[in-house]
Amino acid sequence: MNVYDSSRIADMLKNEGYEETHRQAEADIVLFNTCHIREKAAEKLFSDLGRAHLIQLEREESGKKTIIGVVGCVVQAEDEQIIKRAPFVDFALGPLMYHKIPEVLRQIKQNKERQPIVNTEFPAESKFDFLPENKAGGACSFLAIQEGCNNFCTYCVVPYTRGVEYSRPVAEVLAEAKRLLATGTLEINLLGQNVNSYHGEDATGKERNLAYLLHKVAELDGLKRIRYTTSYPADMTDDLIECHRDIEILMPYLHLPIQSGSDSILKAMNRRHTSGDYLRIVEKLQKANPQIGMSSDFIVGFPGETDADFQQTLDIVNEVKYIQAFSFKYSRRAGTPAAVMDNQVEEKVKKERLEILQNLLFAYQDKFNQSCIGKKMPVLLEQKGRHKGQLIGRTPYMQNLHVETDSANMNKIIEVKITEATTNSLSGKEI
Ligand code: 5AD
Ligand code: SF4
Repeated sequence: MNVYDSSRIADMLKNEGYEETHRQAEADIVLFNTCHIREKAAEKLFSDLGRAHLIQLEREESGKKTIIGVVGCVVQAEDEQIIKRAPFVDFALGPLMYHKIPEVLRQIKQNKERQPIVNTEFPAESKFDFLPENKAGGACSFLAIQEGCNNFCTYCVVPYTRGVEYSRPVAEVLAEAKRLLATGTLEINLLGQNVNSYHGEDATGKERNLAYLLHKVAELDGLKRIRYTTSYPADMTDDLIECHRDIEILMPYLHLPIQSGSDSILKAMNRRHTSGDYLRIVEKLQKANPQIGMSSDFIVGFPGETDADFQQTLDIVNEVKYIQAFSFKYSRRAGTPAAVMDNQVEEKVKKERLEILQNLLFAYQDKFNQSCIGKKMPVLLEQKGRHKGQLIGRTPYMQNLHVETDSANMNKIIEVKITEATTNSLSGKEI
């Protein structure tokens, strides 16, 4: 979601006459789009800000002004504290407020005295109504259809930083998808913190769900691939599962976080599903599309997690055989219910469990990648490889694949026969 937001911010600034640069010393504006999901992500901001401040001072010596802005979830959580800790920051806007950047820049330029601007409102209006057209280049595009979350998992900051759920109307999503297709997009990844709780209005004001929207998007001319991220297990409705049978261009890969395999931990996390519910959903998905590969997020060391609870997480992994997954040590986030639970797990134990879990997850990922050798797969080429004549793309299962091919195939889909596999990537020959 932050990648999507950053590209929308870049579109907005381009409309204001700015150009992108990756060299900070050249930048008139330096913007940090921040994540607050785990402690490490938030801490990184302040060290990055320190470095940006040094460059700001250097530029000042040669008479150049540098505006430093911070957007995203850290701002929502820290509010005025950002300016207290980093007084050289010119503006700080929450994730629902970044459409105000042009207005804020004008205000900053008008002000004679330096006066930092902080805005962490949850506005009544939708920021999507104020953003310019999505100009994302390339063949793979993100499209935010939903934002916020009402689930309140006890460890998670998202409901506090991104606010309550909001779904963009169907027509607005289709219009954005059409614009993306017109600029060469072949793959659209529909995004939301809780994407499968989507309930946007259609033209008659009727609420429509994600299954409906997927069918509508799939009908658009020129689209070759659809994905949706991230889903909540309790919202995997039967009609959504059937999309995996009926929509040919829906990729056979689903990121469906379970977080833990232990029902008592899931309950303490306030997740509205048990491990049994989850396995039944996976079974239905596999029935709808026997080719489907599963992915998940896991948290180890949630307060109260015993060795037996952790073993149940390993059991789920052995059962589902994820083809890819993300796993994290529980991170105590201020303001969330789990942060004040009195049965916190020791850091050492969290570390040990994470290592065990990741080794198991990597083993399954590696096994899946090895099983691809000899198979043919369509690959959407997205980037240049390190070697001349090599491009890198994604398989339907989101695996990175390296292939020697004509550079004119960039942003196209080609058929590849897989010849080699490691835990993290594949290579193949064009056929
Ligand atoms: N500690 C560790 N991991 C977390 N996640 C969310 N909040 C926390 C936290 N406090 C993980 C979840 C979620 C992913 C995006 O980040 O696994 O699915
Ligand atoms: Fe956070 Fe996801 Fe739970 Fe929502 S469903 S509170 S975003 S972990």
